[in-house]
Amino acid sequence: MNSSSKKIHGSKVTASDDPAGHGRTDVSFAVAVSPSQASTAAATLASTARALVAPGKGILAADESLSTISKRLAAQNIPSTEETRRAYRELLFTTPGLSEFISGAILFDETIRQKTSAGILFPDFLASHGIVPGIKVDRGTIGLPGFPGEKFTTGLDGLRERLAEYRQLGARFTKWRATFLIGDGSPSDASLAANAVALAVFAALSQEAELVPIVEPEVLMDGDHGIARCEDVMAVTLQRVFDALITQHVILEGMILKTAMVLPGLRSQERWDVTAIADATLRCLRRHVPAAVPGIVFLSGGQNDQDATARLNAICRTPGAPWPLSFSFGRALQNGPLAAWNGRAENVRGAQQALRHRASCNSAAVRGTYSAATEAEPVKPGEAIARSTQPTGK
Ligand code: 13P
Repeated sequence: MNSSSKKIHGSKVTASDDPAGHGRTDVSFAVAVSPSQASTAAATLASTARALVAPGKGILAADESLSTISKRLAAQNIPSTEETRRAYRELLFTTPGLSEFISGAILFDETIRQKTSAGILFPDFLASHGIVPGIKVDRGTIGLPGFPGEKFTTGLDGLRERLAEYRQLGARFTKWRATFLIGDGSPSDASLAANAVALAVFAALSQEAELVPIVEPEVLMDGDHGIARCEDVMAVTLQRVFDALITQHVILEGMILKTAMVLPGLRSQERWDVTAIADATLRCLRRHVPAAVPGIVFLSGGQNDQDATARLNAICRTPGAPWPLSFSFGRALQNGPLAAWNGRAENVRGAQQALRHRASCNSAAVRGTYSAATEAEPVKPGEAIARSTQPTGK
């Protein structure tokens, strides 16, 4: 890319002032602050983004909304109260040795204000243990008017003010999820257009607040479509989202893409091995995601835990990706610990072992070294606990 100018409110700086630089001196961008402030802000965004996809590490998505976490707890017969939700998130975040495998954790509005039993705010606890705190900032979906079954993600009203508060509370990155349903005539042009613009405005507002946006256009697994249709839909979705991000002057070097894998629908009769899934996923990403993006993370989307890990491993083993690839799993990291906990204090240690094991398997997958042996050999708790007693001071 030669000298391109992304102007926001007019004042322009060149990335040659940017210490992050990515080895380039020819990219320029502009923000509504002085040149030195702009270059420092861009460098901070780029460095946080790179930390989130550090080698062998991925993101724990623990940002379930009140209704989603309540359903997950109810499925284990655990009542959903402010205290059970806090205790559950404390169990996750205080897992010994977690930062060996986990770079960042995405929190929900309630969670970012909660504390450990020792009275430490969760974002402060995470940061002091080498895990970057982040926050989900969308406010969920509403039905897209005129397009039954399709959704529009809300949450832009008041977002600038909320972002300032989240940064004060310690967040360093944000997440916004849009969903796209594959069906007869969907995703519609209306759904693609509206959600792409909302994702882009969210991302630009996040960067303005010096928060790294995780841009998540999720192509849902629901449906009976085959893998080829999924690839086509993911292609058009990514294209529309990156068009909108560029139009909105989002700094690509200071964001992360979160995406689904290219898979057949949940009700499809097609069965593909991990290599075919990895090939389709990487072909689609290579065609539609600029190399300037510092990292791509995958959501699990309802796959079972081991399928998600095995497919991630195949994707990360495939050569030729210009970006670091990793995971940002919710269910595929939390299914085990949630079931093991069952709301009881005496199960906390076992639940933390379940989380550490899943996180270590996914870490191996990011390195492309996951196998049946990794699955069978849980990380030795003693080792991880010993390491976890040395906060990194990040
Ligand atoms: P799943 O991995 O459960 O799909 O959740 C990831 C996420 O953050 C969805 O927004």
